[in-house]
Amino acid sequence: MITIEQYIADHVKIVEDALQTSMPAEWKMPDVLRESISYSLMAGGKRLRPILVLAAAEALGGAMRAALPTACGIEMIHTYSLIHDDLPAMDNDDYRRGRLTNHKVFGEGMAILAGDALITQAFYAVVQSARASGVDPLQILHIVEELSQYAGAPGMVGGQAADLLGEQGLTKLEELEYIHLRKTSDLIVFSLRAGARIAGASEDQLEALTEFGTCIGLAFQIQDDILDLTGDATKLGKSTRSDEKLAKVTYPYFIGLEASMQKVNELTEQGKSALIKSTIPHTNRLLQLADYLMKRDH
Ligand code: IPE
Ligand code: IPE
Ligand code: MG
Ligand code: MG
Ligand code: MG
Repeated sequence: MITIEQYIADHVKIVEDALQTSMPAEWKMPDVLRESISYSLMAGGKRLRPILVLAAAEALGGAMRAALPTACGIEMIHTYSLIHDDLPAMDNDDYRRGRLTNHKVFGEGMAILAGDALITQAFYAVVQSARASGVDPLQILHIVEELSQYAGAPGMVGGQAADLLGEQGLTKLEELEYIHLRKTSDLIVFSLRAGARIAGASEDQLEALTEFGTCIGLAFQIQDDILDLTGDATKLGKSTRSDEKLAKVTYPYFIGLEASMQKVNELTEQGKSALIKSTIPHTNRLLQLADYLMKRDH
């Protein structure tokens, strides 16, 4: 069996090839909009969320081909969230995925619109899982409904809003946990559930993946906060110390670096145990991904 590193590299390649051709060539639009979208979408990045879609589908014996359009869809949503997160009105960052941020190159107006285009194209992409690969349209209905919620106001967007408001001073760790669960865990939970739905998962299996995703998603954002303090900007492809600059309240700010790292370990174990206890047949890669993420430096 190939290593998890090789598994990730293979899947990144599959996702990037699919993303490259995800926009129908016949769609007409101003050239600069097309460039701005592609600039951020094809800039690299770990492709974690689409890999989780594919790995969850595989864990239930589903076909990669069927899950791939949905995997591209969640990467579009994630990429839009990064473009908007970096805007001057939000985190005001200059680097992302190893390049200047979208608005630094294309201007704020075009960056906002590239984000808008990616959100809407994501729903088009998800539908292609039914059109091109014969996934049951009823499952696609569930996936579209869940994407609207996990990515929208009750999910990621709500978390980003609370994050903005939180800059004015958070008093409780529970409030910070809410922000992290919404702004980061929700897209991760969506990815796992969508891949599983494409493979025909049962409610119990979806529930187990929700628990797994909630835990590893929270761990992922705590690590993001840790790496903002201790990481290497070149490896991360984005500026460090951004949170301090914005007076963001983070896990390391609240409980310290050591306790934050401990929390990442605990959450990873808790997430893994939800999967191990489940009836999902091939959890091996998902468990390896959780361990791999725990040790990440970018
Ligand atoms: C960054 O996400 C934003 C967070 C939710 C922490 P990633 O760390 O997955 O960014 P890319 O996709 O690899 O660029
Ligand atoms: C952003 O969290 C999460 C999103 C939904 C984009 P951060 O603001 O900490 O992400 P980075 O550090 O800029 O990648
Ligand atoms: Mg932010
Ligand atoms: Mg940011
Ligand atoms: Mg961050």
